[in-house]
Amino acid sequence: MLTLPLSLTSLSLPQIFPILQNPKVGNFSLETSKSNFKYLARTERGIEFETGNAFFRHESATGRDLGVLAASLYKQSNGTLRVLDAMCGCGIRSCRYLIEAKADFVLANDANDEQRRVVLGNLKKVERGFGDERRWAVSHFDANRILTECYLQRDFFDLIDIDSFGSDSMFLRSAMNALRLGGLLYLTSTDGYSSGGHRPFCSLAAYGAYVRPLPYSNEIGLRMLIGGAVREASILGYHVIPLFSYYSYHGPVFRVLVQVNRGKPREIRHYGFIAYCNNCGITRTFSWNELGRMNCSCKNLEESSPLSISGPLWTGPLHSTNCIKQMWSLAEQWGWIGNGAGLDLEKLLGRMLEESDPRLPPGYIKMDEMSSRAKMNSPSIGAMMSALHKEGYAATRSHISTNAIKTDCPMPMCIRIAKELQGALNVNHAN
Ligand SMILES: C[S@@+](CC[C@H](N)C(=O)[O-])C[C@H]1O[C@@H](n2cnc3c(N)ncnc32)[C@H](O)[C@@H]1O
Ligand SMILES: [Zn+2]
Repeated sequence: MLTLPLSLTSLSLPQIFPILQNPKVGNFSLETSKSNFKYLARTERGIEFETGNAFFRHESATGRDLGVLAASLYKQSNGTLRVLDAMCGCGIRSCRYLIEAKADFVLANDANDEQRRVVLGNLKKVERGFGDERRWAVSHFDANRILTECYLQRDFFDLIDIDSFGSDSMFLRSAMNALRLGGLLYLTSTDGYSSGGHRPFCSLAAYGAYVRPLPYSNEIGLRMLIGGAVREASILGYHVIPLFSYYSYHGPVFRVLVQVNRGKPREIRHYGFIAYCNNCGITRTFSWNELGRMNCSCKNLEESSPLSISGPLWTGPLHSTNCIKQMWSLAEQWGWIGNGAGLDLEKLLGRMLEESDPRLPPGYIKMDEMSSRAKMNSPSIGAMMSALHKEGYAATRSHISTNAIKTDCPMPMCIRIAKELQGALNVNHAN
């Protein structure tokens, strides 16, 4: 039986068909009868698959695109690619790692064995192979168990994908153990309450970060996830490098791809505290040796601190410039972007590339916040960015928030520049 998303259940078939066949949503074929109908097939990037009753979101296709691009690049530079898809759902990710990233081997695991037939059916598109040539296998264990068994058998993977719900960080340790050094860990969180600062004890338990409400909470969600990986890696004597970070409002979903390398970091770099001054709107980072001396210059030390402090979190760049550039080229080569194709992915990769500028501090300035602090209408985002560039600041759009600017220009200076800009505009209009 077809399980429809709740939002579709009240619609009649003629109403549902156009929605299902909208290319943005994904393609479906339906077998219909008077009383019931079921999925025959969906397609993603030309790959046909079934979802059965497995958890599946077509909105996660971009997250899968990004994972596949990075996996393919890994294979090109390392010559091998063994993937453990620890929470595979219907197995579409595993299929895509096999077919598009040309993975040598994929272990598709999901605790729910009721969907075994569906996963097997989807993976059968790829010849299974035997012995050392075996391309894929399906298992149904708790993710921690399969990861730990792989580690104990010294069966290491180049990429481990953990597409979990909520703020499930309990798989971090076992995933790092089962990962080849230099391998990639693709992590997911869907816990918007924690990133929004509404469950600080939950974020503390899961990622070791006490998170308070901040105007750029969705970026904090990504930094919380990377920070959790940084902490776990350092326990094992490793360090992580974020290759990309991706927030999607569907869910919401926070995804980060980190590379795990040997060696504890020799200094605590990019892992500290993010402070937002409620009084003047400035965001700044504090390192561990500044604990107890956190203050904003807009207030005297005697006055009560207006700072909201969250951390420890990842405070460094959200993406590796080099990795995003390579992902861009590959997406272009595969025809996923360019010549008017894949505009959403192209825009996303473009924004990620800009955001990877190491000069940019954590957070972003929302135009609405700036105009309400300045008590005036804000200039257009384009005009504001050109003015910031002219003043020598780094300024880019954010892939997370459409009406916001990521910049190293502090809020009070942004307000001054915006006021000058508006003043100049008013003069021009008067003339
Ligand atoms: C978000 S869905 C996966 C979607 C899939 N990766 C995709 O791209 O379509 C999460 C999956 O994790 C599985 N799951 C939940 N807890 C698990 C656990 N502890 N170990 C393994 N699988 C688990 C669920 O059965 C569900 O299929
Ligand atoms: Zn201040």
